[in-house]
Amino acid sequence: MRKLASVFGGTLLLTLAVAFLVRDAAATRQGATAVNDSLIAPTLTPSDSAALKGPRQPIFFRHDIHAGQYKINCQYCHYSVSVSSEPGIPSMGTCMNCHLVIGGTDSTAQREIAKVREAYNTSTPVEWNRVYFLARHAHFPHMRHINVMGPNACATCHGDVTRAPQVFKVNNVNNMGFCINCHLERNVSRDCSVCHY
Ligand code: HEC
Ligand code: HEC
Ligand code: HEC
Ligand code: HEC
Ligand code: HEC
Repeated sequence: MRKLASVFGGTLLLTLAVAFLVRDAAATRQGATAVNDSLIAPTLTPSDSAALKGPRQPIFFRHDIHAGQYKINCQYCHYSVSVSSEPGIPSMGTCMNCHLVIGGTDSTAQREIAKVREAYNTSTPVEWNRVYFLARHAHFPHMRHINVMGPNACATCHGDVTRAPQVFKVNNVNNMGFCINCHLERNVSRDCSVCHY
């Protein structure tokens, strides 16, 4: 199996993964068909991550590979973004829907995916470093924005995550002006109490 994987690249495993997903996940979650696209993410190793913008993460998880090259929907992982203030961070179980079978084609991917499997097998939550977060006195309801601006509005605030090998702070969301300017433009409430309570 290992050998086959390296001979056929991702194709065989992807076929398996897609079949797996169709069986297990498609009924409840949408859009997680790991189909390769022409948008090929660059080859990088975790040692490159120090030179990338944004905090280094405990696992070199790459949005440019998952959301870019394989076109996995944001909401497959950030499952509550249209129904809750909190967008949701995927559990290792979500990752394992694919990584039970996808072991990685090169040594970097194999090493990093081994960490995912290890975290899952030992039920150790991964301590991701937060990139965007507001002070406790300010509140940001994701669902209110997604319901009006649409499921692809993420880039308006977070930049083009599908091209990001490592997530970094594209907009300074901790500057109140960032919120107020758009609320002014779109004629949304600027009442202090909608954001501060
Ligand atoms: C829908 C399928 C799918 C899901 C869900 C998924 N992955 Fe992946 N992942 C892939 C594919 C496909 C690759 C590319 C494997 C290769 O070709 O080496 C990959 C590659 C990786 C790599 C190696 C990339 C590198 O640095 O070279 C890591 C690490 C990884 N995934 C972590 C995760 C984590 C963590 C999650 C959950 C938050 C997750 N994956 C969820 C399909 C998936
Ligand atoms: C396969 C699962 C997966 C998919 C698909 C995915 N993400 Fe993520 N996302 C994660 C994980 C895991 C983290 C935490 C680690 C990190 O920051 O890279 C994260 C972190 C983030 C963060 C930073 C959160 C913080 O700490 O403030 C943003 C913003 C984000 N994702 C946006 C997106 C957008 C936009 C899309 C779709 C274009 C997307 N994600 C698709 C798994 C995913
Ligand atoms: C109007 C601006 C805006 C839009 C649009 C937006 N976000 Fe966010 N996002 C934020 C802000 C502000 C925070 C910090 C919230 C906080 O700390 O309470 C954040 C935080 C996050 C986080 C980190 C949450 C955590 O618990 O670690 C993720 C993941 C995320 N956003 C994903 C998304 C995705 C996916 C989309 C699109 C479906 C999206 N966001 C659309 C502004 C936005
Ligand atoms: C790119 C435009 C944009 C940005 C940036 C933005 N918002 Fe909004 N916001 C909207 C829109 C559009 C709505 C209206 C949603 C509706 O009509 O239900 C909204 C609604 C809200 C609401 C609900 C208002 C109510 O009347 O109940 C809150 C709270 C909120 N935003 C907080 C924030 C915060 C905090 C930030 C900055 C971190 C922010 N927004 C940044 C566009 C934006
Ligand atoms: C659309 C959302 C929104 C509205 C409306 C809003 N604020 Fe803010 N406010 C924020 C955000 C976001 C921050 C930055 C929080 C952080 O530091 O992470 C902030 C920060 C602040 C701070 C801390 C100092 C600073 O500048 O960072 C004060 C004080 C404040 N707001 C007062 C007000 C008052 C008074 C009003 C009404 C006139 C108001 N805000 C309306 C979102 C809002």
